[in-house]
Amino acid sequence: MSKQTRTARKTVKDIAAAKGATPLVMLTAYDAPTAAILDPHCDLLLVGDSLGMVVHGLPSTVGVTMEMMILHGQAVMRGSSQAMVVVDMPFGSYETNADQAFLNAARIMKETGCQAIKIESGAYAAGQIAHLVERGIPVMGHIGLRPQAINVDGGFRAKGRTEDERERVLAEARAAADAGAFCIVIEGVAEDLAAAITAEVSCPTIGIGASASCDGQVLVTQDMLGLFDWTPKFVRRYADLREAIDMAAAEYAADVRARRFPGTAETYSLRKQGS
Ligand code: KIV
Repeated sequence: MSKQTRTARKTVKDIAAAKGATPLVMLTAYDAPTAAILDPHCDLLLVGDSLGMVVHGLPSTVGVTMEMMILHGQAVMRGSSQAMVVVDMPFGSYETNADQAFLNAARIMKETGCQAIKIESGAYAAGQIAHLVERGIPVMGHIGLRPQAINVDGGFRAKGRTEDERERVLAEARAAADAGAFCIVIEGVAEDLAAAITAEVSCPTIGIGASASCDGQVLVTQDMLGLFDWTPKFVRRYADLREAIDMAAAEYAADVRARRFPGTAETYSLRKQGS
């Protein structure tokens, strides 16, 4: 095997070894230049179907297609070199049965070159997860608040706050882990439930709005960079890019209108003969 074809990317073994050790770092990425900046800092890059809302301005993730996931997955693979890249399976691409899940997951793996896929996994999805893992496709589960179920839930609401719901989320976790998921994202649940799941399952858990009791954390990159005027309670902003972009665009517009841009430094001139 040539040096070029060998991969230096994190593998499912590296991720599994992080259980109970240094917390795993995952961020979302949707394009090549951003993936290149995030790659050295992350164990995993998630091409989340949140791209429907973050990049394409959709009201939820329900309208995201296979083609969108593949296009953005290819870009993130081109921009990164060491993180494990996980691509979300969009709504409607895996729920029907195990065969549908395999055909679409295999297409994502082949056309993007990513290392794993993620499924929003209600307990019903255990069959799909086992089917994929047995056939060579690593699966990350996603339990608790499942954004693709927004129309059943009536909004983005934290999960597991009643006894019934708590049992349901625990059952989702057990089903994903027993079916062979190499890792489970826990979204929008109270700390004691996240801690109970993390203690029970043998694979690492990665939390979003699920407390520090998980084996790792994930955020939507644009949320933590402060690109939106509103962010959920569980997001910490590490930058204020919205303000920075707004100020830069205003300054550029003023310079263009006042003919201060372009200046001589940004203008081509005739080359002198012989130089
Ligand atoms: O789509 C996404 O970005 C996600 C994360 C928020 C976990 O599923």
